[in-house]
Amino acid sequence: MSGEITMIGSVILALLLAGYLGQQYLPPPRPKVIGLDLGTTFCSVGVFHPGSGEVEVIADEEGRLSIPSAVSFTTTAVLVGHEAVNLADSNPQNTVYDAKRFIGKTFEPEVLEQESARYPFKVINNKGSAEFLLFTNHSFSVSPEFIGSRLLLKMRKMAERHLGVPIQKAVISVPAEFDERQRNYTIRAADLAGLEVLRVINEPTAAAMAYGLHKVDVLNVMVVDLGGGTLDVSLLNKQGGMFLTRAMAGNNKLGGQDFSQRLLQYTMERVRQEFGVAPTLKEDIHRLRQVVEAAKLNLTVQPSVTIKIPLHLYEDNGSESPDGTAPAPVVLEAVVTRKLFEQLNEDLFQKILTPIETVLAEGHLDKQDVDVIVLVGGSTRIPRIRKLISEYFGKEPNTSVDPDMAVVTGVAIQAGIMGGSWPLQVSAIEIPNRHLHKTNFS
Ligand SMILES: *[C@@H]1O[C@H](CO)[C@@H](O)[C@H](O)[C@H]1NC(C)=O
Ligand SMILES: *[C@@H]1O[C@H](CO)[C@@H](O)[C@H](O)[C@H]1NC(C)=O
Ligand SMILES: *[C@@H]1O[C@H](CO)[C@@H](O)[C@H](O)[C@H]1NC(C)=O
Ligand SMILES: *[C@@H]1O[C@H](CO)[C@@H](O)[C@H](O)[C@H]1NC(C)=O
Repeated sequence: MSGEITMIGSVILALLLAGYLGQQYLPPPRPKVIGLDLGTTFCSVGVFHPGSGEVEVIADEEGRLSIPSAVSFTTTAVLVGHEAVNLADSNPQNTVYDAKRFIGKTFEPEVLEQESARYPFKVINNKGSAEFLLFTNHSFSVSPEFIGSRLLLKMRKMAERHLGVPIQKAVISVPAEFDERQRNYTIRAADLAGLEVLRVINEPTAAAMAYGLHKVDVLNVMVVDLGGGTLDVSLLNKQGGMFLTRAMAGNNKLGGQDFSQRLLQYTMERVRQEFGVAPTLKEDIHRLRQVVEAAKLNLTVQPSVTIKIPLHLYEDNGSESPDGTAPAPVVLEAVVTRKLFEQLNEDLFQKILTPIETVLAEGHLDKQDVDVIVLVGGSTRIPRIRKLISEYFGKEPNTSVDPDMAVVTGVAIQAGIMGGSWPLQVSAIEIPNRHLHKTNFS
């Protein structure tokens, strides 16, 4: 009898040992759940590696960590991401971007008409929902969730290629302000891309998780997300491992594009002063825009940049020169300092504080009570903006995570938790906030 027990005991022990050794010496399991950040202007996909305990943001074939949220339709193909952007100039009516602004939303017809006027592609009204009208060999329309699905499918394929396993499950982030319908349509987009969504998490919560705030003792987290076109500010409250969004506010017409636009206007004015005429040729303005954008990015790390652009200036606004040939190019050379860039944008930068004050007021919190400030979005790299925020709170914002990768990093951590590969089960649940409204200043 006791011999039998010993026998069984040693079998169990052997099994346990085999399991233990297996864990030690087998290659670590591959992630099966991906984390998706389906952004308005850029998308990224990440995974949590159980072996190393690290998040990896997956690059495309060319090593880029995010793809533009654009989809372009031609007579023969549907192009996604960078390939779509490359066609934006030659195929503007059929290159759809910003689809996230329309997903799962219902609109008054007049509002949709105004929206359509902002874009080179046509936005039409389908029983209160937006659709994009396209013209290739024939005319047809696609939904915002279809656009989303093409982006998600591209990211799924990037992940499958990189990991070498088929992927069917994902965690996806959405703006905190998304209502149930917008969340449902985002899930539908994933569904169309062959992905089952295990959880939808709020972008600010994901950003907080990227900083490991689900594991440490903090109470009040301010997330400031300043992207290309919008500012979103959220006040999160963490209670026993759960994140609650206490207040949110923002400005849906403030972002990096506006700062670039100020610099572009300045540069155009410089051209007018120096050469007597403003640039009117489409190609020139396009090139100016690109140079200004590059200069803006450089000014984050350098105190000044020199821009040098050849331009074809027509005396007579926009019309062809008499013999149809382009005039000889002139070259604009200008030094742009960071200080000048800041002066051109100071009033816009100040506007960032308005929604911050609103969420503090609505959350009944003093700014001193904010434990951690998390910055998200490329525009939060601008030194003047960081300074403005740190002076306002009297404390440094948390900046160790790349602000463009904070959301995808957090979503990938959540994907790791859902995939069961997290070493210890840290909860990161959100309390659904059905009646919370975002105050918008714009
Ligand atoms: C459009 O025309 C091209 C050839 O010009 C053809 O290859 C393609 O299949 C057509 N697409 C559709 C959707 O009809
Ligand atoms: C969202 O989807 C859930 C589950 O499919 C459904 O029960 C709910 O009614 C949907 N809500 C909206 C607003 O579409
Ligand atoms: C920005 O910096 C990069 C690399 O430092 C450089 O190649 C580029 O010419 C710079 N652009 C401008 C407009 O100064
Ligand atoms: C950033 O967050 C980490 C993790 O919570 C924390 O340890 C660190 O002190 C923070 N840094 C700043 C500057 O707030």
